[in-house]
Amino acid sequence: MVDAAPEPKVNMGQPAPRIDGRLKVTGAARYASDMPVANPAFAVLVTSPIAKGKVLSIDPASVLDMPGVLDVLTHQNASGEVKAATMISQGGTASTSIRPLETDQIFHDGQIVAMVVADTFEAARDAAYRLKARYFAERPSAGFDAPGAQERSAKDASEKHEDPQVGDAEQALATADVVVEGWYETPTQHHNPIELFTTTCLWSGAELTVHEPSQTVYGLRAGLAEQLGMDQQDIRIVSRFIGGAFGSKGAITPRTALVAIAARRLGRPVKLVTTRDQGYTVATYRAETRHHVRLGASRDGRLTALSHEGWEVTSRPDAYMVAGTDTTARMYKVPNVFTKVNIVHADRNTPGFMRSPPEVPYMFALESAMDELAFKLDMDPVELRRVNDTMNEPIKGLPYTSRSLMQCYDAAAEAFGWSGRDRRPGSMRDGDWLIGWGCATACYPTQLAPAAARVRYRPQGGVRVETAGHEIGTGAYTVVAQMASEKLGVPLEDVDVVMGDTQLPPAPVAGGSISTASVCSAVALACERIIGRLVARAEPQTTASVGGPGAGLSGWTIAQGKLIGPGGEFHDVGELFKALGAGAIEEYGEFVPHGSSPDALAGLYAGKSGITGGSRLKDRIQYAFGAEFVEVRVHARTREIRAPRLVGAFAAGHIMNPRTARSQLMGGLIWGLGSALHERTEIDVRAARYVNDNLAEYLIPVNADVAEVKVILLSEEDQLVNPSGIKGLGELGNVGTNAAVANAVHHATGKRIRSLPIRIEHLLDA
Ligand code: MOS
Repeated sequence: MVDAAPEPKVNMGQPAPRIDGRLKVTGAARYASDMPVANPAFAVLVTSPIAKGKVLSIDPASVLDMPGVLDVLTHQNASGEVKAATMISQGGTASTSIRPLETDQIFHDGQIVAMVVADTFEAARDAAYRLKARYFAERPSAGFDAPGAQERSAKDASEKHEDPQVGDAEQALATADVVVEGWYETPTQHHNPIELFTTTCLWSGAELTVHEPSQTVYGLRAGLAEQLGMDQQDIRIVSRFIGGAFGSKGAITPRTALVAIAARRLGRPVKLVTTRDQGYTVATYRAETRHHVRLGASRDGRLTALSHEGWEVTSRPDAYMVAGTDTTARMYKVPNVFTKVNIVHADRNTPGFMRSPPEVPYMFALESAMDELAFKLDMDPVELRRVNDTMNEPIKGLPYTSRSLMQCYDAAAEAFGWSGRDRRPGSMRDGDWLIGWGCATACYPTQLAPAAARVRYRPQGGVRVETAGHEIGTGAYTVVAQMASEKLGVPLEDVDVVMGDTQLPPAPVAGGSISTASVCSAVALACERIIGRLVARAEPQTTASVGGPGAGLSGWTIAQGKLIGPGGEFHDVGELFKALGAGAIEEYGEFVPHGSSPDALAGLYAGKSGITGGSRLKDRIQYAFGAEFVEVRVHARTREIRAPRLVGAFAAGHIMNPRTARSQLMGGLIWGLGSALHERTEIDVRAARYVNDNLAEYLIPVNADVAEVKVILLSEEDQLVNPSGIKGLGELGNVGTNAAVANAVHHATGKRIRSLPIRIEHLLDA
């Protein structure tokens, strides 16, 4: 098999090509802004050029008589139209509490101050540029260390927040054989999905249809209903394909309600496509973080203490945080743990999820510190992880449902050739290139949420699966089809999947790596109910003993038109349908994961997140793991940094599709490389303004930066996480990569870089 389609190992499905691949590469897949609507008007946003202060005046009259211009929404004529929606941090879906066009107050650069609507996009854009506005500007606080930025503890900011702790870390640090201590920093980053933030709204009487790329159509509907003071039932969200999201389309941004209001005012559909730079401030981003980490260990490498304090930037009004100490406190066996999270309010837009939101910055700090500890102990960094590996997290002693961390290290180390490493920094050299080999742990919480799906089965006509899940580029259509194909014994090409629409059974946000496990579990349940109906007809005695028709029946399968029992007995499915007098059987599956609250299903239908699992559970802890190895080459004279080899080994329970899984993990590794060496949103601290808010100056790895990427999928069985044993892995791959790169740079040069991204200038004196 080719690299792209790894041979399935034990507990893996087939490496099926994406069933929507042809649609996408031929341009036939319709993204939200491609949806044809009759006679649309076009909206263009006007955003604030100042980060703090007030709009003194804004003059729609200056553009309203331009040809084609239809309307200009400002705080003077649209205040009060957009009601408050519940913030994402409070269990709602709003990305920010700043209501668009509510007042003259400016909270951040790039805040929406007006929306121009015209007959054509060109007319709207022209008018938006010409719209006259005057501002009263105050001096903004751009972030950490800025005068006027307000720091407070996460506990103070949020009642729900807990700082995991156990034992006495200070005491243990004071008496440890070896201590390492470091301050680490990660920069602001923006997701930059290739598909821009678009919204198209159409009213039909009191009913609203919204075409918008979204990671949560039910969540978007719930948030929009709050903002517009509407019944959720009167809103339909359609989002069939999403052109990249990475978290940026997981919350409702301020643009959506404005487009709906403009369309209602005009009595005509309105379409908005924000510009690339507007996306930097209208949507969210990964906030910059700081970390103070101290590790104490005995001479043999056993951790005796971990202290991790983190700081994160957020907006002035919102207490958004990612709080990754939930993960770092639980990674290794250590009896004394202190953690604390702080947030720093600045004059910035509210941050939000970005791929592996807590783990990317917080594991950078922990995994860098682990490497520093290994160096100080003169110990192999892999052996340091082995000595501190554990099947019970240290805070409450809860057992991991499964944990294949060291199997991942061993497999990746073998593939990488790690045993050939000389651990003295600067000791490995190839001509003018200093070679560095580094490694780090990847992990991601195995989270799930309630999900529903409807499955229709016809013996000759194939299978149709309906669920409001989301295809954000991960292969969701394909894995959902695979689950139905496997359960009902029909070829993959006979399965139709419909997703991305609030008229379909509800599915949770495609975020937190929950989608495959949650949505496929609902599909599996619906399929089992279909089998149950057939078994009830074929063998009424059997079903009576396991709880009646509709109950999931273990041991019964369908293959090649036969219903096959656990003892090998079989019935012709076509005959059973005849006996039932049915042309199709349709069943509805509702999956509720372990640890859900009693109102989780009601929440699913109401667009609430309902995410559980990971480190949230009372009786156990569930994570997927990986190990990542990186080779860097630093030029001895120019200090140019290359990363010719990335190797990652991962274990994430049942793998639905090794092809799409590899693709996710490879993308994660490459993003991790970019996060270490390239990516950073530059901020003009005087103006609190993003300056490289475009794809030309926002550095990401290109093909020339990425040479060899090897992804190894390990077999892992976990019966506890969900009946199908799926852990999810969308975010796993880019956790730890940044630390592995920094650790490799240290090995190459002897220089420890604790602030990302690592660039030539940081190594000039190395
Ligand atoms: Mo992901 S950042 O949870 O969409």
